[in-house]
Amino acid sequence: MIILDNVTKIYENGVVGLKNIDLRINEGEFVFVVGNTGSGKSTLIRLLLKEIEPSSGAIVIGDKNLTRMNKEQIPYLRRNIGVVFQDFRLFENKTVFENVAFAMKVIEQPAKTIRRTVPNILSAVGLEGKARCYPKQLSGGEKQRTVIARAILNNPSILLADEPTGNLDPKTSWDIIKVLEEINRSGTTVIVVTHNQEIVNSMQKRVIQIEAGKIIRDVIKGGYRE
Ligand SMILES: Nc1ncnc2c1ncn2[C@@H]1O[C@H](COP(=O)(O)OP(=O)(O)OP(=O)(O)O)[C@@H](O)[C@H]1O
Ligand SMILES: [Mg+2]
Repeated sequence: MIILDNVTKIYENGVVGLKNIDLRINEGEFVFVVGNTGSGKSTLIRLLLKEIEPSSGAIVIGDKNLTRMNKEQIPYLRRNIGVVFQDFRLFENKTVFENVAFAMKVIEQPAKTIRRTVPNILSAVGLEGKARCYPKQLSGGEKQRTVIARAILNNPSILLADEPTGNLDPKTSWDIIKVLEEINRSGTTVIVVTHNQEIVNSMQKRVIQIEAGKIIRDVIKGGYRE
């Protein structure tokens, strides 16, 4: 469960990122976060990752209060949260397998576990047969699937996706959203920031709309218009 209690983020230069946000997202939910450019969507994502600190208010994820958490605990928080961004952030000199396996290596999983797990994850995101490819040999959708594979590898309870379809054509965007929906179906809480009205409108999931740092709309099932 994710709770934001009266969270305000004002950046160092005085710009308001988010203002007085109260929000509760339950385990297993699929949530779209929408809103105009500059409205505060990525600010929300970065607060949940503890990449930035709120100016006031409290953020709780599971049984952890992020605002009281010390530096040593941050890696454990992030292990529990998978992240997918619009720009793919893959290692160009590593294969698909190595790009994904990397996420297990950094938490010192044994090689045997890695060899067993990575192929399963790759087929879960529809990348069987691509393990030996380098990023430059992949389509945009395949690259994004690789990023998603890496994000879900350590079985996070939350998956945050900030414009995961931003650089993809409509068909590929749908494929990626379906992969995210599948991951949600297995129990992971999924939060997707997007500008894609067509996808939001037809998925009929919870939609949180942010404008100028405030939540102006929060519907259980619905769409939106910018
Ligand atoms: N590091 C920063 N320093 C100062 N201001 C920032 C910083 N990051 C974001 N902002 C400002 O905070 C506001 C919210 O930005 P944010 O990135 O959350 O918007 P967004 O909703 O993700 O927009 P987009 O849809 O374009 O990605 C904007 O006015 C932005 O300029
Ligand atoms: Mg953004």
